[in-house]
Amino acid sequence: MKIGVFDSGIGGMTVLKELKLRFPKEDFFYFGDNANLPYGTKSPDQIKHLAVSAANYISSQKVDALVVACNTASCIAIDEIRKAMGKKTPVFSVVDAGVESVIQNFISSAPILILGTRATVRSHMYAKLIQEKLGAGTQVIEQECPLLVPMIEEAWIGHSILEQTVFEYLKSYQKLPAGVALLACTHYPWIKSTFEKYLPGWMVFDSAIAMGEALTLHFPV
Ligand code: DGL
Repeated sequence: MKIGVFDSGIGGMTVLKELKLRFPKEDFFYFGDNANLPYGTKSPDQIKHLAVSAANYISSQKVDALVVACNTASCIAIDEIRKAMGKKTPVFSVVDAGVESVIQNFISSAPILILGTRATVRSHMYAKLIQEKLGAGTQVIEQECPLLVPMIEEAWIGHSILEQTVFEYLKSYQKLPAGVALLACTHYPWIKSTFEKYLPGWMVFDSAIAMGEALTLHFPV
């Protein structure tokens, strides 16, 4: 089997790494649209256009399944990507996997915090899907973190400016009861320990692991 993995850039390597561990015998075709990164600050129309051209290219590589690792593309353009790939190729969205991991670990009296790009957060896709499953009254907070992708791309991991930025994004949540936080961006697993540092007591999940678990359920090994 040949599994395609699509991300807007190198961030999806966190998902690819997880999938390779779980499916060591399969072939992978990774497409990172670095020429057009970042997706997270673009308009929905621009993101759809880029995601469809990426899907058309990946489809020409004859993959048997496609994993859309990019949260932004999954939130904005999953229907268009599925159409471009055709009915015979299953398409897995990282959003579905992330929602599932949040639901499995949900604590009823505590909030759910979704951390993502501006486009992901403004689509409200995570909140919509979580509340559909857990009820409209479920507290889902969505925090956009637009400065993080460029810093991670610059390999500023461990840099004091990145630490300060994560702290600024998270400081108001430190006063809330500790709940479940989802790193809803492929880049964020690189700095998972920084998120954990500023969300003491919270369970922090990453979408790479969630995607690996979802694919294992679909293709048991
Ligand atoms: N890959 C994107 C995501 O997971 C983050 C990078 C971008 O803004 O393109 O949302």
